Amino acid sequence: MHIVTQKKPEVVIAESDRAIARMGAAEIANLIQMRNAADLPTVLGLATGKTPILLYREFIRIAREKALDFSRVITFNLDEYYPMNTHSPQSYHHFMRANLFDHIDIHPAHIHIPDGTLSRKDIANYCAEYEEKIQQAGGINLQLLGIGENGHIGFNEPGSDVDTRTRLVTLDPITRQNAAAEFGGETNTPSEAITMGIATILEAQRIILIASGSKKAHAVQQAINGPVNANVPATYLRSHSNVTIYLDPAAAKHIKSA
Ligand code: F6R
Repeated sequence: MHIVTQKKPEVVIAESDRAIARMGAAEIANLIQMRNAADLPTVLGLATGKTPILLYREFIRIAREKALDFSRVITFNLDEYYPMNTHSPQSYHHFMRANLFDHIDIHPAHIHIPDGTLSRKDIANYCAEYEEKIQQAGGINLQLLGIGENGHIGFNEPGSDVDTRTRLVTLDPITRQNAAAEFGGETNTPSEAITMGIATILEAQRIILIASGSKKAHAVQQAINGPVNANVPATYLRSHSNVTIYLDPAAAKHIKSA
């Protein structure tokens, strides 16, 4: 069973988180295949967190099955904690290696993840360069997003405006609470992160947001039906013409039917 609304953004409600993972993974794999066939690079914007784990697992399976060629695939991750060592098990660098990059044949030089090891004075230049690298790669063809319980996308927390770019941000208390278990308590949880901005995300040609579980239901409802403003940064996705939101029934439970 899945229900699709044609309104902006398109909302697809699938029967389970596995079904969402299959649809998302298939779309990314198809895009790479199509662009490879046209001799074009594929630039992906990638997310971390619990939600995309199944999607990446499914994507790795499809990539093997189809013998996908990754030689022209370039990736830009949304965010990284700050400060954060690249080899720390809590780092998003580690997450991406463990859940995706160690299992596909992507060129290491084609992988970009914000650097949590920079000294504070170098961050602003680094973030400007991150934006430039996205442009030099030709812009993001497909951006994968999750959503926070507070409506964040990337680490664009409530209060983040539509014109924000890659930058150092202070994490919202809800984000830190949700990450606390990974860090052995809230006091050990970083209070800052480097994230792509809302404007950076909205420049992607295509955006897919995946969400599962009832903890996301309120944020999803706000993102789709609530007033567009910085209190719920995901509402800004409604200004983009090519967004699909993939939900399981629990995450979709508060949205009004089409
Ligand atoms: C991760 C990111 C975050 C997560 C969001 C949901 O790179 O940018 O916005 O997508 O916090 O996280 P999970 O999937 O762990 O619920």
